[in-house]
Amino acid sequence: MINILILGGTTEASALAQALAERNISATFSYAGRVAALKPQPLPVRVGGFGGVEGLITYLQTHRITHLIDATHPFAGQMSQHAVEASQATSVPLIALTRPAWESQPGDHWHIVPDIDAAVDALSGDSQRVMLAIGRMHLPAFSVQPQHHYLLRLVDAPYSPPPLPKHSVVVDRGPFTLDGDLALLREHAIDVVVCKNAGGTGAAAKLVAARQLGLSVIMINRPPSPQRQEVHCVDAVLDWLDQTTERGV
Ligand SMILES: NC(=O)c1ccc[n+]([C@@H]2O[C@H](COP(=O)([O-])OP(=O)(O)OC[C@H]3O[C@@H](n4cnc5c(N)ncnc54)[C@H](OP(=O)(O)O)[C@@H]3O)[C@@H](O)[C@H]2O)c1
Repeated sequence: MINILILGGTTEASALAQALAERNISATFSYAGRVAALKPQPLPVRVGGFGGVEGLITYLQTHRITHLIDATHPFAGQMSQHAVEASQATSVPLIALTRPAWESQPGDHWHIVPDIDAAVDALSGDSQRVMLAIGRMHLPAFSVQPQHHYLLRLVDAPYSPPPLPKHSVVVDRGPFTLDGDLALLREHAIDVVVCKNAGGTGAAAKLVAARQLGLSVIMINRPPSPQRQEVHCVDAVLDWLDQTTERGV
């Protein structure tokens, strides 16, 4: 019998959960538990880390998981690496449901950087109004560029004040609309947008808005992903499930 573990936290993971529930396929949805209000899922949900690779291996074995699906965010590099190692150790087949990276288009003013530190360096210079659309975890890195006014868009209100002397917080979660992001960038008179190359549609509106307003974007490239089978749509995951089940995996 199929018994799937989905590593979630993305719009795509939720779409997959919906497709599996509609087909009455047994699966559990796993959240890291980083945000306060978790999106409800039509599947049993578990929350929190597994305790490293060893913990994930134990989970796969004790819950008799037959298929592991990594539908985490492209910047969740550690979880993805653990998924590969646990799959190899247990022979539970793994597939990753990923989003193609965004690519710049005519009219964009992207400055592409390899990581958060390089994004911080790219903000050296005179004071600007900067939208930081990078989540909350890496905000402290920007404290070495205190001259800017930062607009922080966060899923939850921060527990403690971000270490940035001049900032505004907008609490909101995607998917975001073009009209909404145009209004936000105008209202806060943003000069430059800093974001991760997440891909997908839910957070792409800010890039179209930046293009229309002629704003600069500091685009943080993805970390390298481990060697694994990857697909970009839910149907491809369902095909993979059919194939691996027919093969008796
Ligand atoms: N990084 C981003 O920019 C971003 C953006 C949007 C959403 N997310 C989502 O937020 C979650 C955490 O991201 P992250 O960057 O902190 O990941 P990460 O650095 O790759 O993971 C750190 C640790 O968090 C736990 N973890 C991560 N995803 C998990 C999941 N789906 N279920 C159970 N445990 C999980 C694991 O703990 P153990 O080692 O104890 O198992 C993992 O080793 C991911 O699920 C991701 O999809 C991340």
